[in-house]
Amino acid sequence: MSATDARDALALAPPFTPPPGFRFGVATAAYQIEGSTLADGRGESIWDRFAHTPGAIANGDTGDVACDHYRRWRADLDLMASLNVESYRFSIAWPRILPTGNGTVNRRGLDFYKRLAEGLRERGIEPTATLYHWDLPQALQNAGGWSNRDTALRFADYARVVGAELGDVVGGWITHNEPWVTAFLGHAYGTKAPGIRDWSTALRVSHHLLYSHGLATAALRSVLPDTAEVGLALNLFPVVPAVDDDAHRAAATIRDGYVNRWFLDPVFRGAYPEDMVERYEREVGPLDAIQDGDLQTIQAPIDFLGVNYYNPMRVAPSAVSPLHVADAESVGPTTGMGWEIEPAGLRRILGRVREYTRLPIMITENGSAFEDGPVVAGAVDDPDRRAYLAGHLEALGQAIADGSDIRRYYVWSLLDNFEWEEGYDQRFGIVHVDFDTQARTPKASALFYRDYIDRARKD
Ligand code: FCB
Repeated sequence: MSATDARDALALAPPFTPPPGFRFGVATAAYQIEGSTLADGRGESIWDRFAHTPGAIANGDTGDVACDHYRRWRADLDLMASLNVESYRFSIAWPRILPTGNGTVNRRGLDFYKRLAEGLRERGIEPTATLYHWDLPQALQNAGGWSNRDTALRFADYARVVGAELGDVVGGWITHNEPWVTAFLGHAYGTKAPGIRDWSTALRVSHHLLYSHGLATAALRSVLPDTAEVGLALNLFPVVPAVDDDAHRAAATIRDGYVNRWFLDPVFRGAYPEDMVERYEREVGPLDAIQDGDLQTIQAPIDFLGVNYYNPMRVAPSAVSPLHVADAESVGPTTGMGWEIEPAGLRRILGRVREYTRLPIMITENGSAFEDGPVVAGAVDDPDRRAYLAGHLEALGQAIADGSDIRRYYVWSLLDNFEWEEGYDQRFGIVHVDFDTQARTPKASALFYRDYIDRARKD
């Protein structure tokens, strides 16, 4: 069978049987799609500041306009409905609600999300809201941002405001999106906002993010109806030693500690992993942000875990990296981001999660960027993305058969959008966006997903 035939066969394979209550969705994030960054009293976020910093973003792109979703949301919801989407994961921009991070609530910001959530429900689509998808109010950054413990308290206040206001229309709540990215890419590598490069700060931030997750979970529960569900979304990676020997296995344990266990252990076991605590204290400095009682706060019971899965990590030992781990070459095909494509990795990481918890799981993100062909006669052929989706949906079905209680699957992303430091170069959408005209064109992958949902519901 040729590669093309194999892809077609995969796309036509029978869908998995969705368990009761399962929904197929799409995901986006505020700064990546909304634009209108000055509208209706919105305050500045760290991503506005970072994107406008010369050299920070490919081509000098910013989220000033993005997909103009803030003004085009009705049409975007119609588009979702036309694709049979059953659940929509969006994020709420903190600086639209509290322009300076605390103090006066901006009614017009709240109203936008209220209308959005109502608009979803009118179309039979379930709204799921993420509170923090990286757009901290700049005013809070000026006071130290996530390295300041006070920001965690401000986050809980924000959660309470939004929960009280939207709790009647939004049933699913995610506190943080990928705290690993915020902490380490934002504060150790500085490739994402706020662009800080300091390991000690990054570790402080990681703790404050987890602490704020616990505080926000309690704050949400104090205002939401009992039926509401609260969780957080972690980006998890199956970590693979590039060579099966002791040195590589040791490197894999460290990388796993850094990306996975540093978040899973405190949330589900109430403790940071000992080996990593030792390593960080030895190589970075004392972990003095952690105070008595914090781990109990972090362990606040949640209703589901969100898992973002894109790719496995292959690693090798290194003498130079601060954590003594290097990235090894990918095996097999990669996406436009250079991320290895391995659907079986989704099944494996869900097996790993079952060692921690039997809670319901939402796959809160999964998707791929490719250099798509042009729009031709109102269509975009994106066979690689279609195959990526088909392969990962198949793996999802297997994970369900393995015993994972999976309730949602969200494709990242509905639209081509502002892909952080990559600007508009990396297109993750199942719907193509022409950034000159804002025209939306569903790609072949969107039509595949629409038909997949249709088939899954008919069988
Ligand atoms: C995840 C982010 C999301 C998007 C995808 C490609 O790390 O949560 O906003 O950028 O990667």
